[in-house]
Amino acid sequence: MRTELCDQLGIEFPIFAFSHCRDVVTAVSRAGGFGVLGAVGFQPAQLEIELRWIDEHIGDKPYGVDIVIPGKYEGMGEVDPKKLEEQLLAAIPPQHRAFADKVLADHGVPKLPEGEKMTELLGWTAATATPQIAVALKHDKVKLIANALGTPPADVIDEIHGAGRLVVALCGSVKHARAHKAAGVDIIVAQGYEGGGHTGEIGSVVLWPEVIDAVAPTPVLAAGGIGTGRQIAAALAMGAQGVWTGSLWLTVQEAEAPPAQMDALLKATSRDTVRSRSFTGKPCRMLRNAWTEAWEAPDSPKPLGMPLQFMVTADAVARGHRYAERAKDVMFNPVGQIVGQLNAVRPVKEVILQLVEEYLEAAERLQRLTSNALG
Ligand SMILES: Cc1cc2nc3c(=O)[nH]c(=O)nc-3n(C[C@H](O)[C@H](O)[C@H](O)COP(=O)(O)O)c2cc1C
Repeated sequence: MRTELCDQLGIEFPIFAFSHCRDVVTAVSRAGGFGVLGAVGFQPAQLEIELRWIDEHIGDKPYGVDIVIPGKYEGMGEVDPKKLEEQLLAAIPPQHRAFADKVLADHGVPKLPEGEKMTELLGWTAATATPQIAVALKHDKVKLIANALGTPPADVIDEIHGAGRLVVALCGSVKHARAHKAAGVDIIVAQGYEGGGHTGEIGSVVLWPEVIDAVAPTPVLAAGGIGTGRQIAAALAMGAQGVWTGSLWLTVQEAEAPPAQMDALLKATSRDTVRSRSFTGKPCRMLRNAWTEAWEAPDSPKPLGMPLQFMVTADAVARGHRYAERAKDVMFNPVGQIVGQLNAVRPVKEVILQLVEEYLEAAERLQRLTSNALG
């Protein structure tokens, strides 16, 4: 499984793991893969605490940080986070907040206690992601910064390169992959339709080789639907330099999730997800539930754009997390179609070892076929 990227990053297996959970990131890197911390939900001061914790627990292993600067969003151009927030708050129609409240009330989800309020404007904009990058670059073991939902702006790429780190960007189409390469992105993640979180419309088996050919020799990581070593073998056979995974790490022992949410993930089949704009404003794959259906219904005010829709739903996400048992039908459960194979809670190390074993079996199977044909 050793590809050039393994040597470049000093890792044993080219298995990249996206997670919002510092324990998962640390465990993956310690097990020979490469953990990437999703920073979108952290204010800069909290991100600093998370990264310091990772630095202390990860030994001499490298890791990455993932930010979100979309190619298009409401309020683009405003670089002051405070001013942007004011501008966006004024743009939210009251009926969207009322609709979100009604869906939660209909399902008996309590309000947050007085005084407890979730930050509504998360790191979904250049204004909010820029301070996160500054924090990440202060940490030496952060070897790459990944960006979701668009090509990172030129000044961001220069800043990351200037600090001697690699720039990674996710894409769901060849057009976006070409734009990433032209901008100087070092590693491109090609994420197929079946993946968890924000995702495009082209399936992995079609997308990966298309992107690999379009941007060669820039290294490509295959993402979307990977949960077994057989799928890793398929991705590497197509020319990917590694795999980028997300859903797989939601049900590991190290992951932090309320029991009701973990239960929903463990029970779900590969048919139970939907691409919905109902939480973030952009198409995002998640478990289908009463919330996603409500926003599709004829009486729905229809989701707003990013980041406005999340500013409306931040309260729902916080209430869902806090009162998970009662909110289980309306919770935000981003996950990909591979959820159908996530049926047990296991430690990260065991998952990585199984991926490697399955990869070897697949590689041997192909080897046997080749020798049969020759012999
Ligand atoms: C719960 C969840 C949250 C995600 N959030 C982000 C994010 O903030 N930034 C990002 O680049 N990708 C995010 N993703 C996408 C992952 O980075 C990864 O590309 C995707 O999970 C790969 O497909 P898979 O889920 O089939 O493994 C998220 C995925 C999941 C499952």
